[in-house]
Amino acid sequence: MPKHTVVTMPGDGIGNQVLPEAVRVLKAVGFDAEYVHADIGWDCWCREGNALPQRTIDLLAKHKLGLFGAITSKPKKQAEAELSPELRGKGYSYFSPIVTMRQRFHLDTCIRPCISFPGNPLNFIRKRPGGGFEEPFVNVVVFRQNTEGLYAGVEWTNPPEQVRAALATHPKFKPFAAVAGSDLAISVRIITRAAARKICRAAFEWARKYGYKSVTICEKPNVLRETSGLMEDEAKNVSKAYPGIALWSTNIDAQTMWLTKNPEEYGVIVASNLFGDVISDAFAGLIGGLGFAASGNIGDEVAVFEPTHGSAPKYAELDPPIVNPIAMFLSAVMMLEHVGEIEKARSIREAIALVVREGKVRTYDMLRIPGSRDAIRQGAASTIQMTDAVLGKLRVDEEIALSSVTTGKRGDMPL
Ligand code: NAI
Ligand code: MG
Repeated sequence: MPKHTVVTMPGDGIGNQVLPEAVRVLKAVGFDAEYVHADIGWDCWCREGNALPQRTIDLLAKHKLGLFGAITSKPKKQAEAELSPELRGKGYSYFSPIVTMRQRFHLDTCIRPCISFPGNPLNFIRKRPGGGFEEPFVNVVVFRQNTEGLYAGVEWTNPPEQVRAALATHPKFKPFAAVAGSDLAISVRIITRAAARKICRAAFEWARKYGYKSVTICEKPNVLRETSGLMEDEAKNVSKAYPGIALWSTNIDAQTMWLTKNPEEYGVIVASNLFGDVISDAFAGLIGGLGFAASGNIGDEVAVFEPTHGSAPKYAELDPPIVNPIAMFLSAVMMLEHVGEIEKARSIREAIALVVREGKVRTYDMLRIPGSRDAIRQGAASTIQMTDAVLGKLRVDEEIALSSVTTGKRGDMPL
């Protein structure tokens, strides 16, 4: 019997193109696993009124390990319009299956590494004051609280009377008190001390394990005094147990401004849900963008790994597929790491690094040409050719066994 069972959820659009390629790579590297398909996404919503069916929840609860592609989501009105006619008007509401999955399984720690591959033509470069350019090596890992904050889902348009009454007890609500319900939308930013502490601790643990010299708490405590204030307090408390690691504090707005100034100086960054989402996308832009951005959603029991990108519907029908599967591969690498298959993870990451550095095989995004049917004629590799190139560089089992030395020092990330 295989050692692991992976619940594969390709989802919608290009999720169906990149996930099977990642499985090909996992099989080639000798990962001892079986794969169980699970439904998720827009088709499930349209046909069943639920984008995350119970059968998928059951599979995740049973096997605890998931690999996810991407889903399509659409605004409320469009979601209602695309629901099967027989389900309409029966009280079904669309909820993001990803957010639901994170909340249902308490996947409260989201890890998003943004690490440059040398030779990637998409890497950020910076003008030197004296002329010429330099390419800073970005090695940032964002820890994003994944279940609370502004994404907790506690929100209303036309809030009920009790909510208005409660808000009216706050002096700052006064200017809004007379606004008509239908003209008033409210999202609540909820941060609990326990969750804040947990994400900060996870960030510091990572910094210690992989030798990062700093953890940066990226919030906005000067304005969001209560919620960001609590995050910052907990970061300070947690940091006391890690004397060798500096705690830096930045504001989300300033951090995005500084992004291109000194990205190489940051190590681990920790933030609440929305700010973590923003800052991880921002850093991902420096290391190749959506084709290179992977993530892990980690709970105490269940963990799900996914590229940051969405379903890119405009490319979903192209045959051969042209999108970059590397973000999906890096998500699989994170999954291997999570289950302790460090050498197999390293082997895939090194194979990707070799392909990127060689530069012979590049998907359309890496060539900076428009993604279209024509891209392949213009010299872009297809999704499958990129996989083949990575497979061509993989060290197989015996070679891995011969070279299994782990050092865990900075710049030697297993991810
Ligand atoms: P998207 O990430 O799907 O695509 C944006 C653009 O990024 C694409 O048009 C393409 O140019 C590029 N891109 C994305 N993945 C790429 C890859 N692997 N290789 C090369 N280029 C790539 O975001 P968009 O267009 O805003 O949303 C499309 C759908 O995906 C929406 O329904 C949205 O709600 C959903 N979405 C789902 C996410 C998820 O499943 N985690 C995350 C983001 C969006
Ligand atoms: Mg995002």
